[in-house]
Amino acid sequence: MRVESRGRVVSGGGIPSSRSKAFSKKKKQRRQKRSDSMAGVVQRLFETCREAFADARAGFIPSPVDIHRLRAILDNMTAADVGLTENMPYFRNIDSRGAPPIRYLHIYECDKFSIGIFCLPSSGVIPLHNHPGMTVFSKILFGSMHIKSYDWVDVPREANGNHPNFQMPGARLARIKTDAIFTAPCRTSILYPEEGGNIHCFTAVTPCAVLDVIGPPYSDYEGRHCTYYNELFPGAGDILLPAEVEGHAWLEETEKADDFVVMGATYRGPRIMEH
Ligand SMILES: [Fe+2]
Repeated sequence: MRVESRGRVVSGGGIPSSRSKAFSKKKKQRRQKRSDSMAGVVQRLFETCREAFADARAGFIPSPVDIHRLRAILDNMTAADVGLTENMPYFRNIDSRGAPPIRYLHIYECDKFSIGIFCLPSSGVIPLHNHPGMTVFSKILFGSMHIKSYDWVDVPREANGNHPNFQMPGARLARIKTDAIFTAPCRTSILYPEEGGNIHCFTAVTPCAVLDVIGPPYSDYEGRHCTYYNELFPGAGDILLPAEVEGHAWLEETEKADDFVVMGATYRGPRIMEH
């Protein structure tokens, strides 16, 4: 007599051998099918990115058809497609002191685009940062996340430098694009080089995972640095036209906070085949 891992008591050798063979064959086929379909989605995402970002350079936006194709793939992606489950250690905040650690699972990167997943424990924050000259697709795979995003306000040339309401030393005027909680399953959000919330901040309301497709990727060599910002809200004594106070903030560059650390972790989902 032995006890199976699930605690059921069986006698003898358990499943009879002929049934056992059929059972394990079926199990193998099921596992293969699941692994094929997982590989299929990630591979399809990669191949579509390769086509959509073939000409990517600073300021590049994929064609409307390619944006539609990428969005259609990402909209239907789930954590299971990339081999993630909510009970993985990446999503636990073991040490309650300080900022929860953020993990990045690198899937692919070339000089045209990158694909990766940010894993955030509850209350994890990716602080306000920009994406210079980039188009970014963000798909929440599971969990709830607060997204706040801004776009720069183009100050009229005649106003800039002359009109006191458009000046804030060391800061630039930005308009809020998004300020809401998103819960999976939800649509992919897309930001563009000049609009769509190019400067954003993620705060995990629950443990969550977000898959990012970025084209072109950050590159210090090509001058696409990641810059972090502080928000300065209009208040008493601030210099902003009354009609524009709501929905705006001044953003000033800041150093990356010491307690914001993104640690690389090994991606264990389906591999990409670069053929
Ligand atoms: Fe970002």
